[in-house]
Amino acid sequence: MARVRVEPVPALRGTVRVPPDKSLTHRALLLAAVSDRAVAIGRPLAAADTEATLGAVLACGAGVEGDLGERVTVAGQGLRGLRPPPALDCANAGTLMRLLPGLLVGQAGDRIVLDGDDSLRRRPMSRIAGPLRAMGAAIWTAPGGTPPLVVSGGRALAGREHVLEVASAQVKSCLLLAGLFAEGETWVREPVASRDHTERMLEASGVRMRRDGDAVGLAGPVASLALPDLSVPGDFSSAAFPLVAATLRADGEVRLAGVNLNPRRTGLLAVLARMGASVAVEEGPPVAGEPAGDLVVRRADRLQATEVAPEEVPGLIDELPLVGLLGAFAAGVTEVRGAAELRVKESDRIAAVVGGLRALGASAEEREDGFRVTGSGRLAGGRLASRGDHRLAMLGAVAGLVSDEGVAVEGLEAADVSYPGFARDLAELGAVPR
Ligand code: S3P
Repeated sequence: MARVRVEPVPALRGTVRVPPDKSLTHRALLLAAVSDRAVAIGRPLAAADTEATLGAVLACGAGVEGDLGERVTVAGQGLRGLRPPPALDCANAGTLMRLLPGLLVGQAGDRIVLDGDDSLRRRPMSRIAGPLRAMGAAIWTAPGGTPPLVVSGGRALAGREHVLEVASAQVKSCLLLAGLFAEGETWVREPVASRDHTERMLEASGVRMRRDGDAVGLAGPVASLALPDLSVPGDFSSAAFPLVAATLRADGEVRLAGVNLNPRRTGLLAVLARMGASVAVEEGPPVAGEPAGDLVVRRADRLQATEVAPEEVPGLIDELPLVGLLGAFAAGVTEVRGAAELRVKESDRIAAVVGGLRALGASAEEREDGFRVTGSGRLAGGRLASRGDHRLAMLGAVAGLVSDEGVAVEGLEAADVSYPGFARDLAELGAVPR
């Protein structure tokens, strides 16, 4: 495991084109594989998580030409045409492990085993297995509801209304995908609407999506899909790291170019605005059927603490660690509530953020469903372990840039799960990791 020291910088400036969106890349690869045509995907994310999805698509018999990061063309096998192998490796990718079974239940193939790394093996899968079984699917988890998953395809499925206790785009997506093969209507209702990339992409592929308020549904069985060629915009969740660094250290402007601006992903912008940050949104033409544009960030003179309410959480779930860091620089107490989901991400992100920030000199406390950070306007620095979690690794690096003494990040390479080139992009803005 590499330990990288990130030294404080007085100023950041310049333009960064952040990597393509991870959520959209997973979905595009999976829907392309079951399209009844060849689909060209421009700028799909080249990162550990999406390599796992590309590997799964290939292993299920869909031919692929080209390279992640540039352009890949997936030879769609038709909605029911995948030939899954006996075992599939999802590596660290929760999105892959939760979306793929939604497609596998509609394919021929008996007892397909889905497994992953140690972190993925700790993540809850009953949230998909239970509702899929209620539709008639054959799917099993390990005792405790964790991976490995075993899925048998080809059973008769019946559509139904699923009422989720916790908002989750991964669960919603899985159930909508299974709904393609089910007799009758499949609906998903969430307490708060999560990101809607799957719905948008299914609609673009010719599936008539139904909506009832924030609930989303479709009528099955669907005969075929045709995902149009698309190119993938930048990932807001990756942009969030240089965005927060620039909020604390920009000299003039920092521009983050070509970022996905799906309104269900950009909750951090509202939180930053309340805290007194200066982020201008320059919207351009839509990309992949989603809003997209540039974010132009200036340094905030002073930040005010804020409360993130439970209904805001799905709109910035992956950015909440950064809210903790911002809290250390804000006047007052910054509090996040209703975010118990953070405990079952790639690491327990409540314990990790609070433990990490405290080790760097901040005043932070855990809550069962969130955390509180009392701001002091500065962060001393020290050591932060990534725990193999990409977003913690990047949090540590950003903390180093804006700290007094720098931060030694243990396991910065975990950033490669979603943002390879993260250290290079920071260096481009003026940061010098050693
Ligand atoms: C994702 C949904 C979110 C998010 C994850 C990606 C997706 O997870 O945290 O990084 O692509 O659908 P949940 O659905 O578990 O909230």
